[in-house]
Amino acid sequence: MSKFWSPLVKSLVPYVPGEQPKMANLVKLNTNENPFGPSPKVIEAIQSELSDSLRLYPDPEGESLRQTIAGYHNVKPEQVFLGNGSDEVLAHIFYALFQHGQPVLFPDVTYSFYPVYCGLYNIEGKTVPLTDSFEINPEDYKQPNGGIIFPNPNAPTGRYLGLEHVEAILQANSERVVVVDEAYIDFGGESSIKLVDQYPNLLVCQTLSKARSLAGLRVGFAIGHPDLIDALNRVKDSFNSYPLDRLAQAGAKAAYEDEAWFQKSCNGVISERERVTEALEGLNFEVLPSMANFVFARHKEKSGDSLSKALREQGIIVRHFNKPRISEFLRITIGTPVQNDALITGLKTL
Ligand SMILES: Cc1ncc(COP(=O)(O)O)c(C=O)c1O
Repeated sequence: MSKFWSPLVKSLVPYVPGEQPKMANLVKLNTNENPFGPSPKVIEAIQSELSDSLRLYPDPEGESLRQTIAGYHNVKPEQVFLGNGSDEVLAHIFYALFQHGQPVLFPDVTYSFYPVYCGLYNIEGKTVPLTDSFEINPEDYKQPNGGIIFPNPNAPTGRYLGLEHVEAILQANSERVVVVDEAYIDFGGESSIKLVDQYPNLLVCQTLSKARSLAGLRVGFAIGHPDLIDALNRVKDSFNSYPLDRLAQAGAKAAYEDEAWFQKSCNGVISERERVTEALEGLNFEVLPSMANFVFARHKEKSGDSLSKALREQGIIVRHFNKPRISEFLRITIGTPVQNDALITGLKTL
């Protein structure tokens, strides 16, 4: 705290990212990175971009990448907005589309950045409790609001909401923007992008950090009606016109041009998720059904806190949230088969 801080900065409660430990040989299953790595074509594309052209600013509109993403998802380039990771896209969404003098709705158990953006932009947030089985109930979103946001699949629960239920929320809120944060959609869910032409109030947000294994490159995007995208561009161009550097634009484009790698990576995560789920259930865990690259599990006898500490002593890092309703759970990222074996063996010894 300093006398130089503004009152807003004094009041901020910033997001706490999952730990990025510096120790070697850790089994790192705490931040939902993809263990299978990016396509070699991404590395090639980035290497060929490493040239004298770096003295020039990148394309502020990311035209070529937007065309690639639009083509991939069967929408028009003017329906695509790019950002420095989906976190930046989400921040712009809160600023551009959620300031309507009524509370923004999101689940009580969800991505913990949403309340942080509310604090940053002085937006009122209202949490809507998940059901006892940690599901989103669309009926609960029939109430006055200044916008709605939820991840699908939800994080950290991993639970997926079928498109018919997403549509129910959209239909009940046609006067407000509904944002579906699809950071984990490629691990088995069906994307709401196919609904954007039908619902002008729908904005879908995705990232290349998870299924395309590019968390370090920082690329995310939103897809929706061109009017919503215009609003985001107005904020972007009032903040930083060049959110994606040349390397990020080249690498991200190449990621979309290697479908075989993408499919193999997603399928690898899905089959390991099933194996880990079964093993955890065999060890007396309750595991929520997950459509993400992590599982959310609680042991029927041992506390989440004690298990995460004991795993850590074995060099295995998982995420534990000391928060209401979920303090008994561990969020475990699906790793490589070798990492997952280490987790299972580690838990057996406990
Ligand atoms: C639900 C959800 N949305 C968005 C993000 C942000 O992803 P990124 O900024 O890496 O694109 C995350 C990251 O873990 C997430 O869990």
